[in-house]
Amino acid sequence: MAGIQDNKEILKWQIEMGVDEIIGEKPVNRLLEEDLITAKPTLDVSSSRDVNPPDPKPVEKPPQESINSQDPVTEATKLVADVRSLEDLRKAILEFPHCSFRHTSNNLVFSDGNPEAWLMILGEAPGYEEDIKGKPFVGKSGRLLDKIFSETGISRSNSKPNDSFYITNTINWRPPGNRNPIKNEIEMFRPFVRKHIELINPKILVLTGNIACTAILNQQGITRLRGKWLNIDNLDIMPIVHPAFLLRNPTFKKNTWQDVLAIKKKLVELE
Ligand code: URA
Ligand code: URA
Repeated sequence: MAGIQDNKEILKWQIEMGVDEIIGEKPVNRLLEEDLITAKPTLDVSSSRDVNPPDPKPVEKPPQESINSQDPVTEATKLVADVRSLEDLRKAILEFPHCSFRHTSNNLVFSDGNPEAWLMILGEAPGYEEDIKGKPFVGKSGRLLDKIFSETGISRSNSKPNDSFYITNTINWRPPGNRNPIKNEIEMFRPFVRKHIELINPKILVLTGNIACTAILNQQGITRLRGKWLNIDNLDIMPIVHPAFLLRNPTFKKNTWQDVLAIKKKLVELE
């Protein structure tokens, strides 16, 4: 049995790891089919989505269509092959049966902002407010992101391509309990993300946090990657820390401000 001191250490560690919400009251055997269907996650270990009330929607039994023998990445790649428009892409993601998050989400969170924008921002996955409204980055961290960019005159609602942004996520459904998506979940969405970038054809791509960096760069270590320009297939890419991380670590705001100024400078140079 852990002593009081150990428990304190464990609690401290959990807080450092981003555990900020306890949802379930009963232990769950995740290996039992019954529990898998009715389980609520016990801990929120998400790093980058906002603190939320518990899921309002009951967890549903997955329909039979999700039991598909095809490899999810192959199927996603096939689904995007014929996609020619954002509307087609939205439909393809809606049709894609392999992501279990769709059964516990209220809405597909596709995108927001100006599709003509030169700047495209890629986040992680929707949180509670995004799931309810069906739009990315409309919660606390989204408001911070909007505020930082608006200081340089850039906003998602601006109609001028050089002063606006288009925004989406690596994963388009909310992970239950705001947990971080795991590697194969990121991988199955990668074909959709790549197609999304191709359709928007931005001049600059901003990756917020480790999940977006994993999807696009196959790399983690955002505090090392941030603030450095990369160029892949003629696209300028800038990783920045996630705004939810900034909410918990305000000392990083100074760095992010420098990164956003560098992004603004590049946009001006491209004019
Ligand atoms: N965090 C994200 O990464 N995406 C959202 O849409 C909201 C919070
Ligand atoms: N971990 C993340 O996933 N994103 C950040 O921005 C910082 C730490």
